[in-house]
Amino acid sequence: MGDNGVSLGLLFGLLAAFFAGIALLVAARAARVKKILNTLPSAVIVADRNGRIVVANRRALDLLGLGAGLLDASALGRRLAEARSRSEKSMTFDADGTEIPLLVDDRILRSAEGVALFRLVQLTDLTGSKMVPEEERRADRLEAVGTLAAGIAHEVKNPLSALAVNLQLLEENVSGSENPRKVAHYLEVLTSEVRRLNAIVDNFIDFARPRPMEMSPCSVEEILRSIITLVAPQCEAKRIALEGCDVTGTPVKVLLDESQIKRSLLNIVVNAIDSMAGGGRLVWGIEYAEEMVLVRITDTGGGIPEKAVDKIFDLFYTTKKGGSGLGLSLAQKAVAAHRGFISVKNIDGGACFVVGLPLARERPVSSNQ
Ligand SMILES: Nc1ncnc2c1ncn2[C@@H]1O[C@H](COP(=O)(O)OP(=O)(O)OP(=O)(O)O)[C@@H](O)[C@H]1O
Ligand SMILES: [Mg+2]
Repeated sequence: MGDNGVSLGLLFGLLAAFFAGIALLVAARAARVKKILNTLPSAVIVADRNGRIVVANRRALDLLGLGAGLLDASALGRRLAEARSRSEKSMTFDADGTEIPLLVDDRILRSAEGVALFRLVQLTDLTGSKMVPEEERRADRLEAVGTLAAGIAHEVKNPLSALAVNLQLLEENVSGSENPRKVAHYLEVLTSEVRRLNAIVDNFIDFARPRPMEMSPCSVEEILRSIITLVAPQCEAKRIALEGCDVTGTPVKVLLDESQIKRSLLNIVVNAIDSMAGGGRLVWGIEYAEEMVLVRITDTGGGIPEKAVDKIFDLFYTTKKGGSGLGLSLAQKAVAAHRGFISVKNIDGGACFVVGLPLARERPVSSNQ
């Protein structure tokens, strides 16, 4: 796609200059445009603003079985319009009884005044190539970053351990100071920062070299209750009301790696608390469906901005001072290793996270893979 993307970009600029302000003359210039288009390796179509195809290059004619020169392509025009209205990046097209999977790159060419003049559509034949879903792509990216992180984490771990040991020694040996309270305070700050750094490094190491999953039958409700007990004092201090636990369906034990799932759910709960700086409500519930158990955690913290929804699971994406942006990436990785999912949507002035875990006793995906 890279080369084609670049060549389409160049072509787009070329066409923009070529057509600027002369929408109605395109047919007259079609032959020259076609010459340029025919040099491209991918199928390219120029349509007018009503979707009528005015020029298609040779590759497009071959690929789609369009009658050369005729451009009787109303079916293709309709399919493109459908794909566009659903913002689809791919579609299938039935050419002479053969279904062709196509990747669609659809751009609008505008006049200097911003008026839509033409559509420039590039189609890539996906026959025989496997479409990689976004989640798999994300997993690959995370894998690569994880390996890098492990290398760095390994280097950071040793000096951190040395720091921790020396702080401990210092604490034991500070005597006769003029201001022992101040010294104790500084030591406390240093120790807690070292602990925080250590936890981040441990997370990195977990990420890159996850330990084998330890599966056992667990009560999801018990896991959630232990998390709520853990955060209850913090919620009270922040005037956050805890509301749960609404259980629907028949509770059953679920085969899980308890510590991984607990850590994942804890991060979602902590994120919810973080989002409600001025107080609010944290509602949690469990639904046992036919094949899945669904854990819902809802807050009233204003929700996730539209622009950020696609990013919150990315490694290092954080909007918090002092946040590492690891929590949701790790949670997603752990839940995916259980063949589950995490989804999020904004409701009632807050965010609602749903963690789905399968009830089936299928073998989990090893998180080492
Ligand atoms: N319930 C929520 N409401 C609003 N924004 C949220 C919520 N949960 C997550 N986010 C957004 O997603 C970002 C990423 O969350 P994530 O848990 O991965 O990292 P973090 O909480 O920033 O840092 P940490 O690694 O300490 O967990 C957050 O910084 C925040 O912007
Ligand atoms: Mg977090």
